[in-house]
Amino acid sequence: MSKKPWSGRFTERTNKIVENFTASIDVDKRLYSYDIEGSIAHCRMLAKTAIISEDEASSIIEGLNVIKREIDRGEFHFDNSLEDIHMHIEARLVQIVGKAAQMLHTARSRNDQVVLDVRMYLRDEIHKILNGLAELKIVLVDFAKTYLDVVLPGYTHLQRAQPVLLSHHMMAYYEMFSRDSERFGDCLKRTNVMPLGSAALAGTTYPIDREYTARLLDFPEVSANSIDAVSDRDFIMEFLSAASISMVHFSRMSEEFILWSSSEFGFIELPDAFATGSSIMPQKKNPDVPELVRGKTGRVFGDLLAMLTIMKSLPLAYNRDMQEDKATLFSAVDILKDCIEIFGKMVPKLIINRDAMLRATSTGFLNATDMADYLVTKGMPFRQAHSCVGQAVVFAAGKNQELHELNIEELKSFSSLIQEDIFDILAVDQMINRRNSIGGTAKESVRDAINKAEKKLDEMIKD
Ligand code: ARG
Repeated sequence: MSKKPWSGRFTERTNKIVENFTASIDVDKRLYSYDIEGSIAHCRMLAKTAIISEDEASSIIEGLNVIKREIDRGEFHFDNSLEDIHMHIEARLVQIVGKAAQMLHTARSRNDQVVLDVRMYLRDEIHKILNGLAELKIVLVDFAKTYLDVVLPGYTHLQRAQPVLLSHHMMAYYEMFSRDSERFGDCLKRTNVMPLGSAALAGTTYPIDREYTARLLDFPEVSANSIDAVSDRDFIMEFLSAASISMVHFSRMSEEFILWSSSEFGFIELPDAFATGSSIMPQKKNPDVPELVRGKTGRVFGDLLAMLTIMKSLPLAYNRDMQEDKATLFSAVDILKDCIEIFGKMVPKLIINRDAMLRATSTGFLNATDMADYLVTKGMPFRQAHSCVGQAVVFAAGKNQELHELNIEELKSFSSLIQEDIFDILAVDQMINRRNSIGGTAKESVRDAINKAEKKLDEMIKD
């Protein structure tokens, strides 16, 4: 068993079960490269402020680089007796460089070290998530451009409501993912704060230069209060909130793909590479991928709730409860990144059954509102128009027909205001293209939305 760095005050060995219970190495070893990078910066700062000598600093840095290579190559031995990644690296450093290694932890505590590592990890992951979301948004815009002439029944209450363009529907998700990106970008600002130098909780008596460390690690600011810095996990809660909201969006899109690919809808077919079969029913092609995205949404919500509950009522400053933060964060990051990637690859390959969508649009009286609006433009008050069209719907339904399938005499029997031009009003294309207000489903409005989106994405790529 390795000797623990804190064993000085102890007379009894740690119980094995306690060792296993308190160890977090299985989870936090993924922070190793950040831990090493943070330690190198800390070490440089200690040398610059003459708290340690240049010689000590260079041998520590050399040793840390050796350890990085060992872990990179899978040659590093992990053991629960050394609790976490910080103690593993420190213990190995002592083996490699001897006495000088013991200087590294000067003016630092694991309390500020761990939160530094998590902040460095998360800002990298947020960048990856933002890039992934940008790619997904490009995919959605391309999809919208490709299918600009495909018509879909728009739904409310999952009942056919009014015809819309499929592109308009998919651009709704573009908007959701744009807001997600903004939320992650915002969370990044509060993640990108350098906590090192807060030490255990009160700061340190050594003449450290926190701003120098921040510059070395590319942090735009240093934390303002040492107690807050070691006990703040708001940035994780904020990230998990944003991740949960984003997963809501993925789950809604998933649900639609699941419904649309059912025989009942038959609007889309999932690409073979993104579907699975049944082990017993040979005819089946199952939407397991969107189903799992829908299911994993629950896991991310769980991660958020776990994190909120871990932090609730915790007295200041650091408490060991907070070690549980990383499992929640890593789980949500992994799930979200997978979903972003999978959707980015699946959406362009969806097989679109435009005839089925159009058929569904032409039945179910989706043009009833338009007929009422028509009567209003001819001078009838809306309430009266509503009831007049209601009667026409009952009449047509009785004949197993749609409004646009009634002949002009039949239509006129509901109001003398109705003339031949009613048929244009009831046609799907016209219904769509008349809704040309900003943000509406008319082809020209959707084209505008696509152009705006492309411009934004271009600007983002240039930045
Ligand atoms: N493994 C610990 C964590 O993740 C590191 C900090 C430990 N600090 C302490 N005072 N025991 O939170």
